[in-house]
Amino acid sequence: MRRILPADLVERGRCPFDPPPGLRGESAVRPLDLLNGARAWLVTGFEEARMVLSDARFSADKVRHRDATSLQPHEVSEMEAQPRKPEVAERQDGLFVFMDPPEHTRLRRLLTGQFTVRRMRELESRVTEIAVEHIEAMKAAGTRADLVPAFALPLPSLVICELLGVDYADRELFQKRTSIGLNANATPEERDVARAELYAFMQQLVAGKRANPADDLLSGLVHDADPPLTDAQLVDVALILLNAGHETTANMLGLGMFALLEHPAQLAALRADPGLIDNTVEELLRFLSIIQLGVSRVTTEPVTLGGAEIPAGATVVIATPEVNRDPRHWSDPDALDVHRSRAPHLAFGHGIHQCLGQQLARVEMRIGLGELISRLPDLRLAVPADQVPVRNEMLIFGVHALPVTWS
Ligand code: HEM
Repeated sequence: MRRILPADLVERGRCPFDPPPGLRGESAVRPLDLLNGARAWLVTGFEEARMVLSDARFSADKVRHRDATSLQPHEVSEMEAQPRKPEVAERQDGLFVFMDPPEHTRLRRLLTGQFTVRRMRELESRVTEIAVEHIEAMKAAGTRADLVPAFALPLPSLVICELLGVDYADRELFQKRTSIGLNANATPEERDVARAELYAFMQQLVAGKRANPADDLLSGLVHDADPPLTDAQLVDVALILLNAGHETTANMLGLGMFALLEHPAQLAALRADPGLIDNTVEELLRFLSIIQLGVSRVTTEPVTLGGAEIPAGATVVIATPEVNRDPRHWSDPDALDVHRSRAPHLAFGHGIHQCLGQQLARVEMRIGLGELISRLPDLRLAVPADQVPVRNEMLIFGVHALPVTWS
């Protein structure tokens, strides 16, 4: 992979829970010289980031503004690792993450309509079943496991299967293909093959839902949209949900558990009062901010932001880990504090593109971490903390493996 971001911007330093050292600095907005010679703008201030994400002069449409976008999709995040479509006068694809209103509005509204309270409630009981099943399987197999393949990766993958209505018989296949894309040891060729297979899988899934609708989100999108969505749009939407919901949640589960194990007083407070779990989830989201530099926009006109003059057509990158520790906004920002009074953070973004799956992600973290803690009361690391392999170089941060043990 061609590198364009300086290492100190994406690699966390000695502490895997703190933002990459290169993100730290005095100014809330500063120019960022990329290794390919292009210039972008880095936003590390909380208020400035909120402005970027809520102001129409910052466009999310990186297909239309392709020339201005110096960060290539696969170098930004898996969330953006979608095949690029040619520029067209009227966007025909379903990549609404990279659209501005009004195109974004229609697809977003259709999807929001499918994230119903009833569906979320039903998913909640399935999340519990999946979490318990995987923890009990770990216990049945011994007293040691790697939490990433045994728990953190399958849980969100199976939840997305539920959401999209993937048949039970196809789930193993689905999981295998989705995990190759996230496997650090997979070659680029293996990843390309897995991606192409996943695309074909989603095409078949959409065709199946057209012919035999069921009570799932994809069937809802196939049959409720007026005018109807094309098959290509439906496949794009299904892949967005998978990309946006899998790697993110998996890393929050793995890195979140690692952070709790490394902050024993906080873990003890949570064990003593399980009612703190919602607070803990919010605090972990803020403290870990795993989407390092994956949220970016393009200016549609010159903008003054945080004292900086940004020209039109410039790529503006939100440094979420630093934004969520902005000392002008948070007190004692570098402390993990499960008692911290809840305040909106930007781990799920802000504005019209704010994470559509955030309630589901919270449910998965609350239940996933809660069940791990209660079912494995003496869970601990099986290796020294500095031997836990972290996902440096990846713009969604986390752990590649988390060897744990229990008695
Ligand atoms: C802890 C886990 C997660 C984190 C940290 C996260 C973070 C984010 C962020 C920062 C954005 C905004 C991107 C931008 O403004 O450019 C976003 C958007 C999105 N997320 Fe999540 N996400 C998580 C889980 C999920 C899940 C579980 C789903 C669904 C199954 C999901 C679906 C989406 C979608 C569809 C969007 C695009 C929304 C739009 O463009 O209107 N996410 N997410």
